[in-house]
Amino acid sequence: MTTKEHVLKLLEEYKGQTISGSKIAKELQISRAAVWKAIEDLRQNGYNIQASTNKGYSLPSESDLLSTQGILSHLKNKDLGKDILTYKSLESTNQTIKKLAADGACHNTVVVSEMQTNGRGRLGRSFYSPKGSGIYMSILLKPSKTEQTTYPSILITTAASVAVCRAIEEVTGKQIKIKWVNDLYYKNKKICGILTEGITNFETSAIESIILGIGINFSFPTEEFPTELSEIFGSLFNRKEDLLNCEKSKQTQIIPSKNALIASILDHLFEIQPQLNDGSFLKEYKQRSCVLGKRITVLSPSEAIPALAIDINETGGLIVQLSDGSKKTLQSGEISIRPEDLTTGWE
Ligand code: BTN
Repeated sequence: MTTKEHVLKLLEEYKGQTISGSKIAKELQISRAAVWKAIEDLRQNGYNIQASTNKGYSLPSESDLLSTQGILSHLKNKDLGKDILTYKSLESTNQTIKKLAADGACHNTVVVSEMQTNGRGRLGRSFYSPKGSGIYMSILLKPSKTEQTTYPSILITTAASVAVCRAIEEVTGKQIKIKWVNDLYYKNKKICGILTEGITNFETSAIESIILGIGINFSFPTEEFPTELSEIFGSLFNRKEDLLNCEKSKQTQIIPSKNALIASILDHLFEIQPQLNDGSFLKEYKQRSCVLGKRITVLSPSEAIPALAIDINETGGLIVQLSDGSKKTLQSGEISIRPEDLTTGWE
């Protein structure tokens, strides 16, 4: 890490508090002049670092620029923090990590961007990714040679959904549900989508790398969603409403930092990986499902079939009952559920 990055990491750790220039210099074993230079560089990079005479420097608690140091300051599992790359803008984090994988990037490399100009969703759709109010991240998973044949790649997205739910709940206290396969809902709106892509070895047909792309609507004012998306999509925080609540409750920071949520997602993804072998996270996936026991519509390009969602099987497939009583297991694809059916079951 450079001096600037070390200083930022320290400011992130003391976020909202003032830390003196001499303390920073002592902790990092650098000169006061080097501290001053690093602070100036960080300001040039957009960090709103405040200075008060005779007291020192502080990063305001509402400051929420994404940074590797900010993520590291919250990360519990330090083994994960080796390759976290943060960007101001990318076409698509999945696309960038694909290129990095081709250049030999390691297992657990993470790419995060403040915005995406061509964010990609499932089934060839685009993913709305404006600046500053969302989290757009991709993680590269490289199974070992033996795992390449046994890795239940189909379950990775399912496990990731559970891990992201746990992280969101831990950091924000909000209750999150899953709409099969991997759309996360807060109340009755989609707040997160996951796109998993595999890179296959052409000769052996083994999946050499898996790219897990996660997009979260973090703090979008509802009125800023394009009209065609606002019916389905929502946001974890709605800045205006949350700030109003904040004023009422006199809390200083009601919206947690995006860096903290990213770190928690990485910790939970790491924690859940061993469970891929026995599928033990599926019980929680089912408990979090907002479609089980509900009337749904199975969508295909040519038809829409009404069905009842009855169970999730051991590979994450959705078991449905059709109107003639027959059962069918869906391994991929898309279902829809009526908005009024989504609204039940929230605490
Ligand atoms: C979906 O709901 O259809 C999946 C959306 C996945 C979006 C994320 S954002 C980070 C990563 N990069 C992309 O281009 N897409 C995924």
